[in-house]
Amino acid sequence: MPKTLNTEHFWMPFTANRQFKSKPRMLVAASGMHYTSDDGRKILDGTAGLWCVNAGHGHPKIVEAIQRQAATMDFAPVFQMGHPQAFEAATALVSIAPEGLNRVFFCNDGSEGVDTALKIALAYHRVRGDGYRTRLIGRERGYHGVGFGGISVGGIAGNRKHFGPPLAGVDHLRHPLDIARNAFSRGLPELGAEMADELEQRLLTLHDPATVAAVIVEPIQGSTGVILPPKGYLQKLRAICDRYGILLIFDEVITGFGRLGAPFAADYFDVVPDMIICAKGLTNATVPMGAVIVRQDIHDAFMDAAPENAIEFFHGYTYSAHPLAAAAMLATVDVYKTERLFERAAAMAPYFEEAAHSLKGLPNVKDVRNLGLVCGIELDGIPGKPSARAFDVFLKCFWDKGVLIRTTGDIIALSPPLIIDKPQIDQLFGSIADILRIAGKS
Ligand SMILES: Cc1ncc(COP(=O)(O)O)c(C=O)c1O
Repeated sequence: MPKTLNTEHFWMPFTANRQFKSKPRMLVAASGMHYTSDDGRKILDGTAGLWCVNAGHGHPKIVEAIQRQAATMDFAPVFQMGHPQAFEAATALVSIAPEGLNRVFFCNDGSEGVDTALKIALAYHRVRGDGYRTRLIGRERGYHGVGFGGISVGGIAGNRKHFGPPLAGVDHLRHPLDIARNAFSRGLPELGAEMADELEQRLLTLHDPATVAAVIVEPIQGSTGVILPPKGYLQKLRAICDRYGILLIFDEVITGFGRLGAPFAADYFDVVPDMIICAKGLTNATVPMGAVIVRQDIHDAFMDAAPENAIEFFHGYTYSAHPLAAAAMLATVDVYKTERLFERAAAMAPYFEEAAHSLKGLPNVKDVRNLGLVCGIELDGIPGKPSARAFDVFLKCFWDKGVLIRTTGDIIALSPPLIIDKPQIDQLFGSIADILRIAGKS
């Protein structure tokens, strides 16, 4: 790190600031599967940045599209105005979205996508004259970004500790992680689909289904440690929502764009929600952008309810469909298609699974969970020091092995770019295995 760099003023997000600043981990360049650190080392990216650089770093087509757009038109409003790239971007996104989801609302990231989807859900019921439907249901350990809506439907206890009670009218399903029954499952856990019945048997019974606007879930709960839905679980949620006229929202901020070897988790699971929230891989993380992809008749309900010249939905961001983001998105979707990256991820998934499960039996490995190019490795925590064991592996991976991993609590979460090859998969898991082996059982 340059001796002159002042690290004092940047209050870093989701970071142990004091720990980081005592020995900063700085990245200064990126290309393909690698970062370069400020001491000149190549760092293998085991996390696609933050689950977002799915096509690998610095893709020339995406870089060129952004440069061209910046030189042509830096910004144009999309409130009562438009620019062609915004419409082309929506069309391109629909071209890879599940059948029937064909209207797109753009925002700037996942958190805004979540709040946008929740607002669409609430307003949709109102414009149809069903305004009693105000309740939103999320899940324990769900992560839906950092807006007030998102932390309310999310189920992270730390948010309650820091920010107090969630918005009124929210309730939560249990999360479906069941290590006692499903440890070391390869792919989807066999047991636990019945946990979805809780929606009908407990929450809808308690609250009256006619008051519930939407259920929001991540198909795979990523940020809180790779929690996979048991086989049949999401299908059950869909069926229950259908029975009671409740909207089902999939937050696909991390599962979108090939993570599971299909465009969306909705495709992988063959469960089509009423809305999909996406971000991250949407622009390969080059320019911030998020989107909510909506069923046409939900969109049409707004059009039908408002007079001809009225704004139908009172929502939007200055930077919705920003020209640079739209250009980046168009190039990114083109790269996904022409380089067949989703298919590549699907083809690589079995090798990734083998490598992941080779960690079984190593000291302190309590569970390994995987699907597509996602893996969670849960460690037995050090008594009295939650998170410390996994964080130590993270530090050793970075400093000693030149590998970037991510940890949440005592869980290591891996989600490499979809361009990862077999030797890189070996390096990723081999590095973690070495560190666990050397640290030994304690
Ligand atoms: C499922 C999910 N939803 C929402 C978000 C929030 O996205 P952002 O950080 O872009 O606001 C994330 C971020 O990791 C996420 O994983």
